[in-house]
Amino acid sequence: MAILGVCSLKGGVGKTSVTLGIASAALYARLKVLVVDLDPQGDTTLSLGVADSTTNCVAEVLDNPSLFVLRSAIAPSPWNPEQLHVLCGSQESARHDGPTYAHRLNRLTTALAHVHDDYDLILIDCPPSLGGLTRQGLTASHRALIVTELGLFSVSAAVRAFHAIEDIRTTSAPDLAPLGVLVNRVRPQSSEQAYRYEELTDMFGPLIMPTYIPERAALQQAQGAGSPIHAWPSRAARDLAQRFDHVLARALQALHSPVPEHLTHHLSQTNDDVTESLTEAFAAALTVSTEPAHTDTSVGSTN
Ligand SMILES: Nc1ncnc2c1ncn2[C@@H]1O[C@H](COP(=O)(O)OP(=O)(O)OP(=O)(O)O)[C@@H](O)[C@H]1O
Ligand SMILES: [Mg+2]
Repeated sequence: MAILGVCSLKGGVGKTSVTLGIASAALYARLKVLVVDLDPQGDTTLSLGVADSTTNCVAEVLDNPSLFVLRSAIAPSPWNPEQLHVLCGSQESARHDGPTYAHRLNRLTTALAHVHDDYDLILIDCPPSLGGLTRQGLTASHRALIVTELGLFSVSAAVRAFHAIEDIRTTSAPDLAPLGVLVNRVRPQSSEQAYRYEELTDMFGPLIMPTYIPERAALQQAQGAGSPIHAWPSRAARDLAQRFDHVLARALQALHSPVPEHLTHHLSQTNDDVTESLTEAFAAALTVSTEPAHTDTSVGSTN
């Protein structure tokens, strides 16, 4: 079973968007996928079109991780009811986010073990803080993808997330390892982002994923329309889809799962390729670093 946790210890950096992007890539690679919505906000559940469609949700599964309860909390997504299922989230799960006790940390792991032959990939969208839910999610994961933006608070949250993964690995999940740090909402025109990118590469080096996700209105448009990014008809969406294909290929490789043939070319791209292209793009921004930050291109001006 291949389980990828998507986390960061900061809100709004793109965990849900990245989870949806990878789910879209997996769908177009014909994989069978379960998305676990651990966030009480329920954004993933809503985005995948299954809000209020189950009698139970992940909260009841964490109360009682039996196969019966698990099945009653899983719904097929209209994106593709055969291939994509959602373990639904709701605000009820907030009651599991408080202080946790060691004997409870494995409940999601226990529940997911019931369906380990049913899916090629399980994605877990974690909430933005290191409470009981994120701990459950990371304990159940084999790899953890840290999502960050290039801002001061986001970069320090990525560092905290990395330490949390190490901590959980040593205490409750010996098989857990970081997949890498995925940089989201990149705006190469931003000198502030250029500075933070240098800082991030100093801190994480090769742990930075060899692709990044640019800030694009197409991502929000596809989410608003309830569409997988791979089905959204624009050039920007096609570029985003390829980047999520890349993240999927890397994740499958790290999880020791077969990488579909059409994705294997992504495995040859290196961190150096990306560092080089971003450094070049950011270099232009640094030469005009006297510009105030508010002149950065906003999401509305890209497609
Ligand atoms: N690359 C991007 N380009 C444009 N908009 C983006 C991008 N990534 C995320 N967004 C937008 O930013 C907002 C926050 O993203 P998202 O909900 O994925 O973050 P999150 O980390 O899951 O938030 P939370 O911590 O609240 O769960 C959403 O409106 C989303 O559409
Ligand atoms: Mg979210």
